[in-house]
Amino acid sequence: MLRHLRSLQDCTKEELGFFIERALELKKERQAGVAHRQLTGKTIGLIFEKPSTRTRVSFEAAMYGLGGRVIFLSGRDTQLARSEPLKDMARVMARYVDGMVVRTFGQNVVDELACYSSVPVINALTDLHHPCQILSDIMTVIEKKGAIENLKIAWVGDGNNVANSWIQAAELLGFELILACPEGYGPDPEILQKGRRNAAKPIVLVHSPEQAVAEADAINVDVWTSMGQEGQEDVRLAAFRGYQINAALLAKAPSHAIVLHCLPAHRGEEITEEVLESDRCVAFDQAENKMHMHKAILEKLIGG
Ligand code: CP
Ligand code: NVA
Repeated sequence: MLRHLRSLQDCTKEELGFFIERALELKKERQAGVAHRQLTGKTIGLIFEKPSTRTRVSFEAAMYGLGGRVIFLSGRDTQLARSEPLKDMARVMARYVDGMVVRTFGQNVVDELACYSSVPVINALTDLHHPCQILSDIMTVIEKKGAIENLKIAWVGDGNNVANSWIQAAELLGFELILACPEGYGPDPEILQKGRRNAAKPIVLVHSPEQAVAEADAINVDVWTSMGQEGQEDVRLAAFRGYQINAALLAKAPSHAIVLHCLPAHRGEEITEEVLESDRCVAFDQAENKMHMHKAILEKLIGG
């Protein structure tokens, strides 16, 4: 049974399918004005050591929308900032809250909290993974295009946390994934190797954005400099030149291909204003879906 969501590796294919189906249902129910109270009496702690707009607010809105409560702690607010051991933090928090949603740098932080916590720990982004994002992104692709198993998904840009989680999703669900990353900016080698070993369909890594988008049904893009990489902007701007999602690149993709961006976007860097604001781009639906998906995740992990 799924208890923590440290990465998509914690999910079975069936659980992933369940999250998608339930999130789509919760979205419809919200649109119909159905009130939910499944998590009345439950409290989650949000521990965020990196900034966030979407993930924080959508988790908070999701929890309140299910009748629960949230305690938000920024990195500065806890004794973690003064080196309290994670194993102590985990055991103390678990006595107060029914679940922890954690955004931090090292994946080891989430893993260690989960190891010592008697309540579910949910990864809200680490340097290595962003599982909740990918669940909402897959939901968005399915909403727009139908069954993802039959689709070709492209990733253009940095082989970062979001890319790593896409690889784990491809491993579980068996859709074709083609990533175009500059030399030296590919995804985590172990995640890629494992994904390739187990996936039912190819997971391909190339250096050509044109090749990645040529047959894509959905094209994913993210920032070139992730949180924690501040100071590398100049070198990254140079490395990613040619990887921008713009009208010229989209002209090489099938006309039905949609563009996904998890946001925040840097217009003029990884994506142009023109593409981001076009009908091809579903970034704002993606952002909305984070809330429905987080409801589905909280309902299952916190509600039981
Ligand atoms: N997509 C995403 O995780 O956005 P935030 O950093 O605003 O949470
Ligand atoms: N790769 C980005 C995602 C932000 C939601 C980062 O880690 O900063």
